[in-house]
Amino acid sequence: MSQGVSIAVVGSGYVGLVAAACFAEIGHHVVCVDNDEAKVQVLREGGVPIHEEYLPELLNRHRANRVEFTSDLKAATRGAQAIFIAVGTPQSETGSADLSYVDAVASEIARSIDSYKVIVEKSTVPVYTNEWIRRVLERNGVPQDLFDVASNPEFLREGTAVVDFLHADRIVLGAETERGAAVLRAIYEPLTSGAYYCSEDGVPGPRAADDPPPVLLTTTKAAEIIKHASNAFLATKISFINVVANICEAAGADVEDVARGMGLDARIGPKFLRAGIGYGGSCFPKDVAAFRHVAEQMNVDFGLLEEVEKINAEQKRRFFQKVRSALWTFRGKQIAALGLAFKGGTDDIRESPALEIVELMLREGALVRAYDPAAASRASEIIPAGRQMVYADDPYEAARDADAVVILNDWQEFAELDLGRLRSTMRYPIVVDGRNLFDPAAMAAQGFTYLSVGRPARHPVAGAANGADHAVGQRRS
Ligand code: UDX
Repeated sequence: MSQGVSIAVVGSGYVGLVAAACFAEIGHHVVCVDNDEAKVQVLREGGVPIHEEYLPELLNRHRANRVEFTSDLKAATRGAQAIFIAVGTPQSETGSADLSYVDAVASEIARSIDSYKVIVEKSTVPVYTNEWIRRVLERNGVPQDLFDVASNPEFLREGTAVVDFLHADRIVLGAETERGAAVLRAIYEPLTSGAYYCSEDGVPGPRAADDPPPVLLTTTKAAEIIKHASNAFLATKISFINVVANICEAAGADVEDVARGMGLDARIGPKFLRAGIGYGGSCFPKDVAAFRHVAEQMNVDFGLLEEVEKINAEQKRRFFQKVRSALWTFRGKQIAALGLAFKGGTDDIRESPALEIVELMLREGALVRAYDPAAASRASEIIPAGRQMVYADDPYEAARDADAVVILNDWQEFAELDLGRLRSTMRYPIVVDGRNLFDPAAMAAQGFTYLSVGRPARHPVAGAANGADHAVGQRRS
């Protein structure tokens, strides 16, 4: 492996913390900065504030030698050759990205810089942000030969972030000078040379020594656009399949067959064609809005993205109505909500369609018993436990005496439920699945009324387990 580079990562959220741990894992010395003192303290003491596979292992492995945590931005950046900005870029009221954190970090760097550094945007930012950062430094009197601004967008997905980072599909490096590009190339060299994949205790994943991630060297502007365009395109794919699912429902076809048939076309590909209750999370909703705003500012009509957003909002509403139609009314009904995070494998509830649907059910008078393997504690900060809302310790407890089970995200644990046990604990065997986790015929054979997305509704097969056989919405007295 090449000699380690001194790196400062500013911001220890989902992107910053994972990047810091992975940079340490590939041999660099990393100082991770955050202005949240409490978070820094937790990290120093060995805690991990987010649920992410392999992250605790990597932080444990490198905490003592290659990764440090501090709230002192000046000290952290002074010794660094590369400074990665991984602070939040939340959505402002207009839909544009709020860059005030990026601005504050750039100003702070400008005040302390005393040797050459590459300042790298890791957060998702609108095109031209690199120029803005450059201007902030110049305005503060920093000579041009002391810094370069580069863009190295991050494509990691929450839940699989460490593997996505270390076994990336591609590494995009946007730089204007050879000097800046050389530092970035050196940082990623252990991955791009394949050396990392030879180490025995490396994180396993799809890449191998003879199949390392490709590097794409572009301008900083192109790198910035690649990130926004990629997320907007993936969100478009999801909204597209969700509308196709609605057509399938109306026509009596199965969207899973349709998605498979489409995905086998190499030009389309099978990924991100899973119909459901719409996309959420900290990236897609914000990035689609920000990219639409970028287009607007440049007088480019990107109405397609408005449709993508509209479809996504409508998809949640449609699903909610589907649950209601299965129950006739929510008032007084007990619903088991499986899933609170915006998807399985994470504790992140930001822009979670699951949480939105739970809130709608509560508003209409339902009693909700919710379960999520990782997100309950965060969810309870938004929807506190109370008379109408109970947080259960396992899915079967959530389903006890339920009028219906509603599946709201795609944890593997849900797909592996013991269906017989689930059914026996419920009052009525109705499952409304927003993530198409089960085979409809198998559910009917198990005695469930099963509603999913883009597939025909199924009712218990006569003589199915327990002989359960009642129509949707019919309440046994
Ligand atoms: C996304 C991008 O995938 C990643 O490259 C970027 O860096 C950050 O944003 P993430 O938000 O972690 O990652 O989640 P992702 O797995 O992409 O899912 C986003 C949302 O889309 C989730 O709500 C998920 O449930 C939904 N989704 C995804 C679908 O509804 N259908 C699909 O086929 C795929």
